[in-house]
Amino acid sequence: MKIGCIGCGNMGGGVLKGLVPHAEYELFGHDHTRAKVEALDAETHRVQWAETPRALAEAADVVILAVKPYQMEAMLEEIRPVLHSSKTVLSLAAAFSQEKLVQGVGGICPVVRTMPNLPVIVGKGVFALCFDDASLSEARKAELLAVFQKLGLPVVLPERLFPAFTSLVGCGPAFVFLFMEGLLNAGITMGLKASDSRELIAAMVEGTAKLALESGESFADLRVKVCSPAGTTIRGVNHLERHAVPGHVADAVLEALKRDMELAGK
Ligand SMILES: NC(=O)c1ccc[n+]([C@@H]2O[C@H](COP(=O)([O-])OP(=O)(O)OC[C@H]3O[C@@H](n4cnc5c(N)ncnc54)[C@H](OP(=O)(O)O)[C@@H]3O)[C@@H](O)[C@H]2O)c1
Repeated sequence: MKIGCIGCGNMGGGVLKGLVPHAEYELFGHDHTRAKVEALDAETHRVQWAETPRALAEAADVVILAVKPYQMEAMLEEIRPVLHSSKTVLSLAAAFSQEKLVQGVGGICPVVRTMPNLPVIVGKGVFALCFDDASLSEARKAELLAVFQKLGLPVVLPERLFPAFTSLVGCGPAFVFLFMEGLLNAGITMGLKASDSRELIAAMVEGTAKLALESGESFADLRVKVCSPAGTTIRGVNHLERHAVPGHVADAVLEALKRDMELAGK
């Protein structure tokens, strides 16, 4: 499959970089800055430079648009003349609806609205995918899901759940980083070097997430496993509960959702 990406910043660059080790894909990139494309695989040169967005859309079967949402309409207009029914246009842009995508390609080819999150840049993204059911074959959907499985965890969601996904999984890394900052302050206060503390906390969060994913147990059951009777952990947990931290975390996500609605003019 020939996959091209227009806009090779955080998201587009992350997607292409994550596909470089997979020889079954022929890869193309275009960006305002050529060096961004060349930096994606300086050693293997598997990502071919496309001179223009239109040249990329001509070369690729799957055209990924990873420019800012306000740049999407102009970009779609630019590539539309070279689109045809066997191509698929996939957008990573936040707040750019499936309806606008279908309009943007003039109904010429299938579209996919995709929402990534920041860890895509290290190959651990979580993606929501909304397929254009009317025009995408089951085989093409399976191929596209296989692409995103190589980049992390894809889930197929109806578009009405994209705001929820965005507030929880798109914004989520920022909430987790804030929690990690609090832990870092504690580490330094207790005498650990900031750099050591940072590494320990990041590894602890990675291990905790892996345990949750692999065990499949509820978060509450896993937490109880760390809380020995009359132990240290339960003292900290009681403090967090007394200050309603879980409720505040839920409210943070719901605040993000409100803002998402405001931006969508709802
Ligand atoms: N960052 C996130 O956490 C996140 C999460 C979910 C979704 N998204 C979505 O992902 C998309 C990309 O975000 P990002 O964070 O990757 O942005 P980014 O780092 O700014 O990358 C966008 C890239 O596209 C280039 N570009 C823009 N217009 C172009 C054009 N006409 N021709 C060639 N290159 C062009 C930009 O170049 P210049 O900078 O020179 O213009 C930039 O290198 C956005 O639509 C955003 O809504 C982002």
